[in-house]
Amino acid sequence: MHVDDFGYLLHLYYGTRSEGTMDYLPTYADRSGCCCSPHEAGTRTYSLDVLPQEFPFQGNGDLRSTLLQVRDESGTFGCDLRYVRHEVRAGKYGLPGLPASYADADTDGAETLSVTLADERIGLEVELLFGVIPEIDIIARAAIVRNNGDGRVTVEKLQSACLDFVAGSFDVITFNGQHCMERKPSRQHVLPGSFSVGSRRGQSSHQYNPFMILCDRDATETAGRAWSMSFVYSGNFKAEVEQTQYQQIRMQMGLSDELFSYPLEPGEQLVAPEVIMTYSNEGLEHLSHNLHRCIRRHVCRGPWRDAPRPILVNSWEAHYFNFTGDELVRLAEKAADLGMDMLVMDDGWFGARDDDCRSLGDWTVNEEKLGGTLAQLIERVNATGVKFGIWVEPEMVNENSDLFRAHPDWALAIPGKQPALGRDQLVLDFSRKEVRDNLFDQLCRVLDQGNIEYLKWDFNRSMIDIYSHATVDQGRVIYDYYLGLYDVLERLVQRYPNLLIEGCAAGGGRFDAGWFHYAPQFWTSDNTDGHDRMTIQYGSSFGYPCSVMGAHVSACPNEVNGRTVSLSARGLIAMSGGGFGYELDLLELNDRACEIIREQIKRYRSIEGLVREGLYYRLTDPMSDDVYAWEFMAEDGSEAIVNAVVAKAEGYGEARYVVPRGLTRDAFYREVASDRVYPANALMDMGLPLPVSSALYMSRSYHFVRVDE
Ligand code: GLA
Repeated sequence: MHVDDFGYLLHLYYGTRSEGTMDYLPTYADRSGCCCSPHEAGTRTYSLDVLPQEFPFQGNGDLRSTLLQVRDESGTFGCDLRYVRHEVRAGKYGLPGLPASYADADTDGAETLSVTLADERIGLEVELLFGVIPEIDIIARAAIVRNNGDGRVTVEKLQSACLDFVAGSFDVITFNGQHCMERKPSRQHVLPGSFSVGSRRGQSSHQYNPFMILCDRDATETAGRAWSMSFVYSGNFKAEVEQTQYQQIRMQMGLSDELFSYPLEPGEQLVAPEVIMTYSNEGLEHLSHNLHRCIRRHVCRGPWRDAPRPILVNSWEAHYFNFTGDELVRLAEKAADLGMDMLVMDDGWFGARDDDCRSLGDWTVNEEKLGGTLAQLIERVNATGVKFGIWVEPEMVNENSDLFRAHPDWALAIPGKQPALGRDQLVLDFSRKEVRDNLFDQLCRVLDQGNIEYLKWDFNRSMIDIYSHATVDQGRVIYDYYLGLYDVLERLVQRYPNLLIEGCAAGGGRFDAGWFHYAPQFWTSDNTDGHDRMTIQYGSSFGYPCSVMGAHVSACPNEVNGRTVSLSARGLIAMSGGGFGYELDLLELNDRACEIIREQIKRYRSIEGLVREGLYYRLTDPMSDDVYAWEFMAEDGSEAIVNAVVAKAEGYGEARYVVPRGLTRDAFYREVASDRVYPANALMDMGLPLPVSSALYMSRSYHFVRVDE
C-alpha cells in the first residue's frame, strides 16, 4: 500500500511475495468529467473512482461500492479519510468482544500493522488493522471506527476488507445452498456490474457462506492465482465483487449494510469484524491448505483443538423426541459395545418438550421422561463405559414456555405486530445483558448437574422482527446481539474449559470462522445421506478444515432424501470429519452391520490424527465426476490416506483410476492393507485402478506409508 501526495491510502498489490515498491501500478489519466477529483488535486487525472484503495469510503469521489458510509449529526452522508499515522506492533491483534485469529510474535513471527485515517470535519477516526501470520501466508484485516468529534455519527455501512485489482479477468466462487444442502461451490465469470452474496437472516446462513474466492478464469486445484476472504463472524454479512467501467475489479467483505444503522456518540467506537485473507499462485488446493492451517491452529482454541475427539452416538435420528432414560441407557450400552466413546442426548429432555412447539427457554430437566434426575442418568450412562453429552438451543424461546410467559419482552418482536414464527419459536434478545445472564445461569445449572463432557449448541431459525426493548436505535440490534452471543460463549468457554462444544444451526446454518473461535466443531448439515454429504463436505473443504466438520453415519433409506448408500461408504465419508459419530438406532443393527461399525471405529482411531491435522486434497469433484476421491496426507509426506467412493456406476464400464497428490517425489509408498509397495511418481502420474465395474457406492480406502529406508 502507499500513501499518496493527498494523503489517500492506495492499495498497490497483493500477490506472490515480493520486495520493492509497486507504486507504478496505478495509472493516472483524464477520464473526462465523469470521474470526479478531490478539490485540491488540481488535475482531472486523479480520481478516487479509479484508483485502487485499501479502505474505500463514500464521500470524495469513489462511486463504486465502498467499505464505509456515514452520516453526521445533521444527517448528511459523506466523509473524507486521510492518512494520519501508522505503526507496526509485534504479535497479531485481537478484537474487543469479537472472535479473531490469534498468533504470537515469537512462535509464529506474527505482526500487526495499524494505519490510522481520519476525517477532520466530523472528527471520525478509522484504525485499520492488518495482522500478518507469515508462516501460513495469512493477512487478517479489521477496522475500528471511532467518533472523536462532538456530534453523533451514524455508521450506515461498515465493511472490513477490500482488494482492488487494477486489471484482471477473473472467476468468483461462492458456497451456496439451503437447509440440508449447504455450501455447494458455484463458480462464474466476473462480469461488468456487481455480484454479491450475503445474509440478512441474522445468521451467517445455509444459503450463502461468508467465504469467497476470486481466481484466474483458468485456475484449477493446482494452478493459477486465487485470493480468498473469510469472515470471522456469525451474523449478517455481504461479500461483493464488482467489475468497474474500466474493467478493474473490487472484492470486498464485511457486515451487511441492510438492517444496519449504528449510532456512535462522541467517544464511542464500532469494530468491523475480522476478514481472513490468503493468496495462492498454485491454485485452489494451496489456498485451502493455508486456510485449513489458519482455522485449525489460529482460530480454534482450547484443549480439543489438537486432541482426538470422542466418537459419539447422537439420539436425534435414533429417537427424535420419543425416548426414555432406559432407552438412552440401552443406546449407551450398545455404543460402548461397538467401541464408541460418548452418548449425546439431543432435543427433548427438558420442560414439556415432546415436540418442537414448546418449552425452549425452560432448561429444566424432564425427570419423568428420563426416569430420574439428570445426574442419575449421566451416572448410568457413564457406568456403561461412555461419556455423556447434551443438546441445547439457548438463543430461542417458544411462546409456550414459562420463560416467555414471565418475560414476553425478552423475545425479538415488534410492538403492535405479531412476530413471524420459525419452527414455532422466537429469538431471544441476546443484545440484553439480563437475558444473557438468565440463559447463562440456566445453562450452568444444567451443566453442573453431572459429568457432562459435550454440548451441542443449536440455533434453528432466522431473525425477522428486529426490535429490542433495550434501545431506541433498532439498527444496532443484530450487531449487539452477536456481541452478546460471543459474550456468552466466551463465558462458557472460560467456565468449562474442558467441555467439547459443537455448534449447529438447523445443520450448517452458522458454519463460519467466527464460530470456530469458541468451539472446534460444527454440525455440517442435517443431511446425513452419504451421497449428498460428499458434495457438502467437498464444498465446505474449500474454506474450512475437515477437523471442524461434524459428520455422522445414519440409517438407510436416508430420512431426508430416501437414498440408500452402502454402510462402508457412509462410514468412509463420515470418517472424513473431525467430529465423527453415528446417528441411528444402534439396537436395530444386524450382526454384519455391527461388525462393519466396529471396524470403522478402529479404523477412525488409527487415522483421526491425519483427518484432523493432515493436508486435505480434493482429488475429484463429486458434483461432476464418476468417482469421488479425496486424500489426507501428513505434512511431512510420510503417510497418506486415499479414499474413493463410486458415485456413478456403469455396468461393464471402463477402469477408473484414483490419482493421489502431494506424495514425496521419487519415494516409494507401502499400501498397508495389501502390503504392496508403489512408486510415488507413477502413483501421481497414472494413479491406482479401482476394481473394474464397481458397484454404486463401492468404497476403498488406501493407507500409504512412505518407505524411508
Ligand atoms: C436441529 C439440528 C438437529 C437436531 C434438531 C433437534 O434441526 O440440526 O441435529 O438437533 O434440531 O430439534
